[in-house]
Amino acid sequence: MVISSTPPSVRKPSKVEGIKERSNFLREPVASELLLDTNAFSEDGIQLLKFHGSYQQDNRDNRVRGQEKDYSMMLRTRSPGGFVPPELYLTIDRLSDEYGNHTIRVTTRQAFQLHGVLKKNLKATISAIVKSMGSTLSACGDVNRNVMSPPAPFKNRPEYEYARTYANHIADLLTPQSGAYYEVWLDGEKAITGEEDPEVVAARKRNINGSNIEDSPEPIYGTYYLPRKFKIAVTVPGDNSVDLFSQDISLVVLTNDQGELEGFNVYAGGGLGRTHGKEETFPRIADPIGYVAKADVYDLVKAIVATQRDYGDRSDRRHSRMKYLVEEWGVEKFRSKVEEYFGKAIEPFKPLPEFKFLNYLGWNEQGDGKLFYGISIQNGRIKDENGFRLKAALKKIVTKFNLPMLLTPSQNVLLYNIEKSDRQRINRILREHGIERPDQIDPLVRDSMACPALPTCGLATTEAERASLPILTRIRLLLEKVGLPNESFIFRMTGCPNGCARPYLAEFALVGTGPNMYQVWLGAAPNQTRLAKVFIEKMNLDDLEAVFEPVFTYFKKERQAGESFGDFCDRVGLDAIHQFTGV
Ligand code: HEM
Ligand code: SF4
Repeated sequence: MVISSTPPSVRKPSKVEGIKERSNFLREPVASELLLDTNAFSEDGIQLLKFHGSYQQDNRDNRVRGQEKDYSMMLRTRSPGGFVPPELYLTIDRLSDEYGNHTIRVTTRQAFQLHGVLKKNLKATISAIVKSMGSTLSACGDVNRNVMSPPAPFKNRPEYEYARTYANHIADLLTPQSGAYYEVWLDGEKAITGEEDPEVVAARKRNINGSNIEDSPEPIYGTYYLPRKFKIAVTVPGDNSVDLFSQDISLVVLTNDQGELEGFNVYAGGGLGRTHGKEETFPRIADPIGYVAKADVYDLVKAIVATQRDYGDRSDRRHSRMKYLVEEWGVEKFRSKVEEYFGKAIEPFKPLPEFKFLNYLGWNEQGDGKLFYGISIQNGRIKDENGFRLKAALKKIVTKFNLPMLLTPSQNVLLYNIEKSDRQRINRILREHGIERPDQIDPLVRDSMACPALPTCGLATTEAERASLPILTRIRLLLEKVGLPNESFIFRMTGCPNGCARPYLAEFALVGTGPNMYQVWLGAAPNQTRLAKVFIEKMNLDDLEAVFEPVFTYFKKERQAGESFGDFCDRVGLDAIHQFTGV
């Protein structure tokens, strides 16, 4: 690993730092450029727009040399724990038809994305979302992003309720405080959002040894916000549905024998994004940092955020996630710096049971006599296409039964608060709209993820979402051919190394390097607690069968009883696989 010898503070800040400084706390140039009769924002506008939840994109299938690109905006919602009330869902459904490309995408951070919104329609779209109790504020940008929690709406397991509640409170704690968002999109009208918890309000104001920037409109972030995006999840012991090792901070709820909340185990320093050919960038899993009592949890979260704010690299954006700080300082030094802003010592981490990958699909008891149902959605895309009419089905179900939903970190949707007597009617609506039950879908497909990539993502070097199903079909055929017809594993795929679909935590991942070319990663744990490693730097997709037939044959021959593909690759080692297969 290459570690820069120049301390970050003496290197020149990156361009984006200047854009944040000049923005007057997230206002300009977005506010002025929105009034112009143009199809696109300037470079500065594009960067700042992210803090408002939008990425400018262009349809790369429609690029014509010498002509203006086919610009549109991607809009991402903020929905802590993936909670979407029925009114908000129906608004998003309507907006996707009125202003978007008629599809809605469930993201890997439990939010929605709309694609294809024209600049002239952006204000109408965002204000409609806010008026339906939604938001897009800080869904992207150098701030705390959507806070995740397990999507299971259990009513008889208090730890799940605590995880959801604290995901919401931490999202509130770290929301940008400048009024820019409401000024720009709602002409200054403050949204009718729920009341903030008084403890959160007090914690936001509390300055411990410089954890706050005094006299700033942004008490936690200050003028420059964070060096880079920041990601937090709150989960319960044993539940890794949130991919907790991939987050900047993960909290694990700890309760006493009566089920009352006592505190949280804290992990920090995870993050997946990397750049091909840049050794100094790498995926990293979070380390255990310690335990915090519930009364102090907001102060500790703030202390970690302040450490990254003040010491994270602001000169090289490829190297500015908090994971690099933790890696280069080591956990001890990182912890003691956090303790300065926390004002006391962090208690030792408490023992935890093993984590599991959970997806909560199908029919489940909620614990209060009602049911919840998890619908498996290929790559999170809610659309109506040929015989598959999920968008129409969801609209019908949500309208008729007035059901809230939870978006899952695996890009699926859970409908909940369902009366037992409505189960058959809901089954029928789904069946009539061509929606398969989760147990009718190949688990290889059901548990896979792919990022949007082409045609909308400007960073994509090759296909991901559009290519994933044919690839999974080829993998299934290959498994059948080598005599493993019922085998399944976690497969993920992205169009570039940024890793939006968390490929480095998959048992088998393809990461785009160029047209039809992919880096192959193998060997992450099936419960996402261990990273994968690079197996092949560049593989032409046409060689998939030639490369993997011997690999799967070796797996079949040498695996231990019940051993998963990822665990096998890790145990025997990628060198042994190269040797055995000659690949
Ligand atoms: C330098 C790093 C990264 C950049 C520049 C980046 C940029 C982007 C862009 C442009 C999109 C929109 C694509 C589209 O919808 O067409 C996107 C989507 C997304 N990214 Fe990233 N990304 C980065 C890393 C990551 C990582 C490491 C994660 C998570 C571990 C992540 C999570 C997401 C999520 C949840 C989405 C929504 C799309 C989906 O559901 O697949 N991003 N990102
Ligand atoms: S992984 Fe790369 S190609 Fe895929 S959505 Fe993220 S930035 Fe775009």
